[in-house]
Amino acid sequence: MSHYADVHAQSLENPQAFWARAADDIEWVRRPRAILNAAEPGRASWFPGAMLNTCYNAVDLHVVAGQGERTALIYDSAMTGSVQRFTYQELQSEVARLAGLLQSLGVERGDRVLIYMPMVPEAVFGMLACARIGAIHSVVFGGFAANELAQRIQHAAPKVILTASCGLEPGRVVAYKPLLDEAIAGASHKPDHCLVLQRRQEPAELVPHRDLDWSDTVQGAAPATPVAVQSGEPLYILYTSGTTGLPKGVVRDHGGHAVALKWSLRHVYGMEPGEVFWAASDIGWVVGHSYIVYAPLLLGCTTVLYEGKPVGTPDAGAFWRVIEQHGVNALFAAPTALRGIKREDPDAKLVSRYDTSSLRTLFLAGERADPDTVAWGERALGVPVVDHWWQTETGWPIAANCMGIEALPIKRGSPTVAVPGYDVRVLDDEGRELPAGETGHLALKLPLPPGCLRTLWENDAGFERAYLERFPGYYQTADAGHIDDDGYLWIMARTDDIINVAGHRLSTGAMEEVIAAHPQVAECAVTGVADPLKGQVPLGFVVLNAGVELSESELETELVARVREAIGPVAAFKQALVVGRLPKTRSGKVLRGTMRQIADGEPYRTPPTIDDPEILDEIRRALETRGFARARD
Ligand code: COA
Ligand code: AMP
Repeated sequence: MSHYADVHAQSLENPQAFWARAADDIEWVRRPRAILNAAEPGRASWFPGAMLNTCYNAVDLHVVAGQGERTALIYDSAMTGSVQRFTYQELQSEVARLAGLLQSLGVERGDRVLIYMPMVPEAVFGMLACARIGAIHSVVFGGFAANELAQRIQHAAPKVILTASCGLEPGRVVAYKPLLDEAIAGASHKPDHCLVLQRRQEPAELVPHRDLDWSDTVQGAAPATPVAVQSGEPLYILYTSGTTGLPKGVVRDHGGHAVALKWSLRHVYGMEPGEVFWAASDIGWVVGHSYIVYAPLLLGCTTVLYEGKPVGTPDAGAFWRVIEQHGVNALFAAPTALRGIKREDPDAKLVSRYDTSSLRTLFLAGERADPDTVAWGERALGVPVVDHWWQTETGWPIAANCMGIEALPIKRGSPTVAVPGYDVRVLDDEGRELPAGETGHLALKLPLPPGCLRTLWENDAGFERAYLERFPGYYQTADAGHIDDDGYLWIMARTDDIINVAGHRLSTGAMEEVIAAHPQVAECAVTGVADPLKGQVPLGFVVLNAGVELSESELETELVARVREAIGPVAAFKQALVVGRLPKTRSGKVLRGTMRQIADGEPYRTPPTIDDPEILDEIRRALETRGFARARD
């Protein structure tokens, strides 16, 4: 048995012993006496009765251990050409003062604090400050529009909102504050205060009494000490796309999260304290929560917070510059970032301008890593490129090549094997287990390991419905794929209407809601079609009301603007096609999957339940006139 197989088997045979050992690595206020309460397997609670403070473990612990002078955070802004470093000692002082300020604004244990910020160190301070006082943070990605932000304000009901006057995107300054003001106006819940970080690129106007200037107010705040919380209390809510327009608020706890993340950085990513980890993501996504902020700090590593893009800031050598400048040991990026670099610098000439010898591994996740991109990365950098599979819900990898346990042979296109703690099965539509090689629903046998979601915020029933109901005894990942004879996983597609655009998870249902609200639209469907850079991009199929005289390009311009306005630029909705009818089954279900197959030029079968098979030919003709459906079945 390989070492990996041995560790994986131990984690499933005796999860209590396995995670009890991992829990020894955490400083508890009250040590766990019980490890797992799985009376209801779908709601397993880890370390019940134990108490800790996550911020203490991520920050103070290292200072107490004499590592206060170690660099905790490197803020590298390719957008402003600046670099700022914070030692653990400095991080502690920043976070403690911000936590004290939050307390003075009335934020208490269990209260929500919403964070709508660009990639600046204050955003990280904000998350840790919440953890310090037992408040629950909810970070909203900056590329979302006011409407999406309003939904989250409404649902999470934050007492305080942390924001910045603006974010910086190549070629434009994104004024955050007007978006926030619009969102607050649109939500019936109103925060007591907004703490606004003024950036010199575009300072914001402050609303008297409600808004406070970050720098002025934090300076005078008294530092707060860490508050002990129960292991099972929520650390954060992170909203993610679901099948409807309303996002799902994934709730993560303190104890399970701290144990699992610290364990994962060492064992999955092969990191040691003092080394430099860089997740080139955004704090608004789960990757940012887990691997920019919590895991590297829990392990006592140096984490890089990068404000910039893989290309254009200033060129496709930006990542290699950061690796050299900060001695990065492991990089985590989305495949789309690598594809972007490859497109600009196909022969990887820019790599040779930098010394990237500190880099041991490149990790890719967020979308399927196509074998070409993996091979290009291996050639360009001369290090293993590790594809790994996980979700906002799990918070840490489900499948990976665990570099801290045993590096297994890489099969390009597969995220390798189930990570210890995860029991991955492939099920058919009836929930029966499928043999190796057969494609079906990827499901995780309950209980889930520590660190995974506990529920959906204020929506226990939705949690049951979305994840537990379909296959009793399992968590439904909503991904389809298979496990091969060597135990390697192959992730092929989502089984719901989520699409992955440039590693960003988006709901086509949410886009359909926006498009359907256009007065001239009778009905519509949105599907994700293949894109060489972003993996997938949304494509809208629109049926107009009878008698409407509107050209396809006029309609497209209006719909693109509406989606950008309602969901945000991150939706990357750029294309809409007018069609006479939508293909449906006799029971009225729109055949989105078949439309996607036609658009991508894949072979497709005419579903036997289709209402009128001729519609598919009409759809194909409409797609062909716009340059889709190149390969014919
Ligand atoms: N605030 C405001 N707007 C944002 C934003 C933010 N934080 N992040 C992205 N946007 C905007 C972009 O400016 C772009 O706007 P545009 O339509 O006006 O050009 C739009 O949202 C789409 O963004 P994205 O899909 O990320 O593409 P991009 O043009 O910004 O970047 C690449 C192109 C190649 C760099 C891109 O594929 C990439 O690497 N994206 C980041 C992937 C990533 O980190 N994913 C996280 C999951 S781990
Ligand atoms: P998110 O919640 O944004 O992390 O998105 C999770 C989804 O992204 C998964 O359910 C998959 O559909 C997809 N995904 C993430 N990582 C991978 C991967 N390595 N291979 C294939 N799909 C992935």
